[in-house]
Amino acid sequence: MKQTILITGASSGIGLLIANKLHESGHRVIGTSRNPEKHSSKLPFQLLELDISSDSSIESFTKRLFSHIDKLDVLINNAGYLVTGLAEETPIELGREQFETNFWGTVKFTNQLLPYFRKDRF
Ligand SMILES: NC(=O)c1ccc[n+]([C@@H]2O[C@H](COP(=O)([O-])OP(=O)(O)OC[C@H]3O[C@@H](n4cnc5c(N)ncnc54)[C@H](OP(=O)(O)O)[C@@H]3O)[C@@H](O)[C@H]2O)c1
Repeated sequence: MKQTILITGASSGIGLLIANKLHESGHRVIGTSRNPEKHSSKLPFQLLELDISSDSSIESFTKRLFSHIDKLDVLINNAGYLVTGLAEETPIELGREQFETNFWGTVKFTNQLLPYFRKDRF
């Protein structure tokens, strides 16, 4: 069954690979990027602007998303970034910022979309 699938962080890496694969399989794929204009022309699927570390971006993205689609079947939370290095050499602030994006950003974004899934009885 063909589904409408949203993949956050689909401009590169794992998200891009998943998005291309699902698009090739015939699903309707919508990806996200903080800078869609940089990537859109190279991609076979639609890319919308989203920054999961920003509450206002999450809110405006959701409004825009549901002006493009009636129903969302699948959400793949992929957006995020790595901070590498020894704990003793890594500023705590860098770790906090990463946690704010990768963890709390994902939680806030999922919470924003849950009412739409519930409406469709997922
Ligand atoms: N690769 C690994 O070994 C590994 C290991 C453990 C976990 N992970 C996690 O797996 C996910 C994908 O990793 P990857 O290696 O494919 O990374 P990547 O190539 O750097 O891709 C990260 C994606 O996330 C997006 N992104 C980053 N910050 C964002 C933000 N604040 N709001 C919205 N989108 C944001 C980027 O989009 P734009 O820059 O276009 O906005 C990009 O599309 C990440 O969450 C990463 O933390 C990866």
